[in-house]
Amino acid sequence: MRRLIVHGGAGRIAPEHGAEALEGLSGALEAGWGEIDDATEAAVAAVRWMEDSGKFNCGRGAVLNLQGRAELDAALMTGRQQAGAVSNLTYTPKAIAVARKVMEETPHVLLCGRGADRFAKAMGFPRETIGTSARRKLYRELRSDLVNGRGGHGRWSDRKPSRHPAWWEPLKRLVHVHPELLHGTVGAVAVDARGRIAAATSTGGIFLKMEGRVSDSSLVGCGTYADRDVGLSATGIGEVIIRYTLTRSIAELYHLRHEGVQAAADRALATLPRDAVGVIALDRKGRFAVAKNTKNLAWATRSDGERSVRQGLS
Ligand code: GLY
Repeated sequence: MRRLIVHGGAGRIAPEHGAEALEGLSGALEAGWGEIDDATEAAVAAVRWMEDSGKFNCGRGAVLNLQGRAELDAALMTGRQQAGAVSNLTYTPKAIAVARKVMEETPHVLLCGRGADRFAKAMGFPRETIGTSARRKLYRELRSDLVNGRGGHGRWSDRKPSRHPAWWEPLKRLVHVHPELLHGTVGAVAVDARGRIAAATSTGGIFLKMEGRVSDSSLVGCGTYADRDVGLSATGIGEVIIRYTLTRSIAELYHLRHEGVQAAADRALATLPRDAVGVIALDRKGRFAVAKNTKNLAWATRSDGERSVRQGLS
């Protein structure tokens, strides 16, 4: 059975943002489903649609780092153990397409920073400024909140940002006031009629992150993973997902315990710090899982066997 499942991030999603996320996800599902004869094409098309929409924390709508610049991360993996990824890409918002080029045109898996930018240029992507005006406005407000200690989260000195580990604690408190800062990473997992699986994830990372921070999304086995039998894409706090090598751990549980993909995901998330992550997954037969330990996870799925799209913020 062919299936495509997409997510638009985990966290605490306000109702007005939830409706917008679900609307965006149905656009992504439609774009991906048009390519469902090939799992890789379908997963990439769905993620590319979300990157182009500017509605999610990826591609055109990516959040900004402490210096006010977007640095994009993305990865693509197929069930045939092929993988391509980029990290800290600034040249183009089309991160998942560049990740795919890494997979198909180079002997490497992950290109980052200047190397990723140069590669994107060499592959013919036009240079584009990343970051919507809404993101820039929020960036200015939040940075000023951080520096001035508004909202009772303590002051932060921006004179040498990269030498101020103390910045992370005020930022965490700021996230409680602005929960939308954490969600919006996107992902898609597809299985086609031949049982081929592909998983894709794309993100702008965490708002006001340190320059050069690498997210789980671009790391195979952390935010993105696929093998012959199962494909996964994660969202949430990248530092947690990386420390637990989350998607690979769920795949291992799936293979070892034979309890199904939902049980494997639930089991893995039960061991994680609370309020941190969400994950979507599917297996070769098109059975899918949605698991989270945050309040919300925006997701949607479509398959041959179902008459309508299933979606939720659960
Ligand atoms: N999971 C996305 C990030 O932490 O950047």
